[in-house]
Amino acid sequence: MNSYEYLLVERKAAVGLITLNRPKQLNALSFGVFGEIATAIDELEADAAIGCIVLTGSEKAFAAGADIKEMQPKGFIDMFNADFTAIRGDRVATCRKPTIAAVSGYALGGGCELAMMCDFIIASDTAKFGQPEITLGTIPGIGGTQRLTRAVGKAKAMDLCLTGRMMDAAEAERAGLVSRIVAVDKLLEEAMAAAEKIAAMSQPAAEMAKRAVNRAFETTLAQGMEVERDLFRSSFALQDRAEGMAAFIEKRPPQIRNR
Ligand code: CAA
Repeated sequence: MNSYEYLLVERKAAVGLITLNRPKQLNALSFGVFGEIATAIDELEADAAIGCIVLTGSEKAFAAGADIKEMQPKGFIDMFNADFTAIRGDRVATCRKPTIAAVSGYALGGGCELAMMCDFIIASDTAKFGQPEITLGTIPGIGGTQRLTRAVGKAKAMDLCLTGRMMDAAEAERAGLVSRIVAVDKLLEEAMAAAEKIAAMSQPAAEMAKRAVNRAFETTLAQGMEVERDLFRSSFALQDRAEGMAAFIEKRPPQIRNR
């Protein structure tokens, strides 16, 4: 088991819960925080008992972005040598297990980018999303121009990246960035319930579904359909698929064994 300075990492039955825990800095994402998130994902991904991972922050801030105080003195070569790729800042996006971002308050810059690395975002009604890097004389560096554009389209992505303005939860939901909005005091409960539901599914089937959906953003429709077809056929090799269909026909709950 790893120890963490900036995170709380908990196991709640089959759900892994990662809570960003740098409240005084509004969960600003220093290189150290990104590194710990990568380690926590490694740990939870390797744990066969975990079927879904929830990433959350505090009520005031999911994360207010990369750590500006840490970045301020850096020059090109510092960022070139030790940028977000080098510290595995994108690790959440490569996680094989399903991931949910539970976002309350500010999800700005790297915070919005971190949320977008998750498979989907559940937002509280107080959530605010934005890519304010332009106001600092820089641009998003870990997906804000790419994942945001794929999620909300060019018009809104340009608007957010060029003006640096924030959008509230309702606008984010209308734009397709978040899957659901819940009252702030119900956020974690709702995210954990969704995660428990996912964790109760066949893990290999969930991974196949996630892989197939993700291909939709990286390939042509024809190539994506091919991947989906191959994974769909592969699912017929799963015992869970045979059991799931038998249980449906026999009108009983399935015994999922993750194989
Ligand atoms: N980095 C470092 N420290 C941060 C921070 C950040 N991104 N965001 C907030 N903090 C710190 C503040 O400096 C402050 O610390 P002190 O008390 O020591 O001064 C503390 O957190 C509380 O912040 P505020 O007093 O500013 O709180 P507020 O409620 O008045 O405002 C806010 C909240 C609107 C989120 C404001 O803090 C803010 O604008 N933060 C910066 C947002 C931002 O620009 N993010 C993008 C960063 S660049 C990036 O992310 C690059 C990338 O793509 C990877």
